[in-house]
Amino acid sequence: MRKKVTVVGGGFVGSTTAQRIHDAGLADVVLTDILDGVPAGKALDMAESGPIMGSDAHAAGISTAHGDYSGTENSDIIVITAGFPRKPGMSRDDLLKANYDVIKAVVEAVVKLSPKAILIVVTNPLDAMAQAAFKISKFPKARVIGMAGVLDSARMSTFVAEELDVSVENVHSFVLGGHGDDMVPLTRYSTVAGIPLPELIAKDKLDAIVTRTRKGGAEIVNLLKTGSAYYAPSAAVFEMAEAILKDKKKILPCAAYLEGEYGVDGLFVGVPAKLGAGGIEQIIEIKLLPDEKAALDKSAASVRELVNVLRI
Ligand code: 2OP
Repeated sequence: MRKKVTVVGGGFVGSTTAQRIHDAGLADVVLTDILDGVPAGKALDMAESGPIMGSDAHAAGISTAHGDYSGTENSDIIVITAGFPRKPGMSRDDLLKANYDVIKAVVEAVVKLSPKAILIVVTNPLDAMAQAAFKISKFPKARVIGMAGVLDSARMSTFVAEELDVSVENVHSFVLGGHGDDMVPLTRYSTVAGIPLPELIAKDKLDAIVTRTRKGGAEIVNLLKTGSAYYAPSAAVFEMAEAILKDKKKILPCAAYLEGEYGVDGLFVGVPAKLGAGGIEQIIEIKLLPDEKAALDKSAASVRELVNVLRI
C-alpha cells in the first residue's frame, strides 16, 4: 500500500509540495484548504497529470471550511503550510499570533485522525510554529519537525555554485539556527567536493553569500510582492518527506526540539538531524567554535522571544 501524505494549506507552497510528492509517486496526497472547491480542483488537476508523469499516486482535495478533516485520516506525514504569508516589509515574526491560531486549529483537528503521523511544519515564523505544533499535538518530539534548514542550505548552495561556477551537486551547505535573519550559515562545515568553503572563496565574497542566504526569503518576497517563495520550500519538504517515507536515515538540517543539545533546552532550533521512518531519529551534535556558538545562541534567543510571547 502506498504511503499517505496530507498537505494542509492549498496555497503555492502547499500545492507545489503536493504536486512534487504526487508526481514522484512518493505517496498518495490529500490537499486541504479552507477554500471551497480549490483543493478538490487542484487535486483533480494533479491526478490528471498522472498518466503523463507516470505516477499512479492518488490525489484528493478536501475543503476544511467547516473544520472537518475527514479524508486525512491515517496519514503517514502531515505537512502544515496553512497560515498567512509574509508580505513585503513584514517580518516573519509579525505573523506570530495570527498563525499561532491557525496552527492550533489545524493541529488539534489533524492529530485526532492521524495519531501516528509525523508532522512537518512549514508555516512561519517557523521555529515557533513548530514548537506550537509540538505542544498542541502532544506528539513525541521525534515526530514534529520544522522545515527551514534544508531550504536555507539550498539557497546558500545555489549562491556558492554560482560564485564558483560548479555543479550544485558538488556543494553541501549547512545552515543552522532559527529560520530568521540571524540564522547561522556555517561556512567551515559547508563544502564543495569535500573542500571547506573558506579554502575556496575569499572572505568578503563568503560574507556576502552568508548575508544573502540570511535574507533569502525576503529577497523573493520583495520580487514577488504578493507572496513568498514556494519552489525551493516545496523541494525542501519533498526531500524531508522522502527521507522519512523511504527510511533513508538522511542527515538534514531541520528545526528540532532540543533538550540540552547545543546547550539549548526546551526549544525548536535548526540542527543537523537524521531523518528516517521514526522522524527525527538522532540529533547530530557538532563542535562549534566560540563565534559560531555565540551566533547559534543569538538565533535561539530570537526563537525563545517568540515562544515566550506565545507562552508555549
Ligand atoms: C522563505 O524563507 C518566507 O520563510 C519563507 O522563503
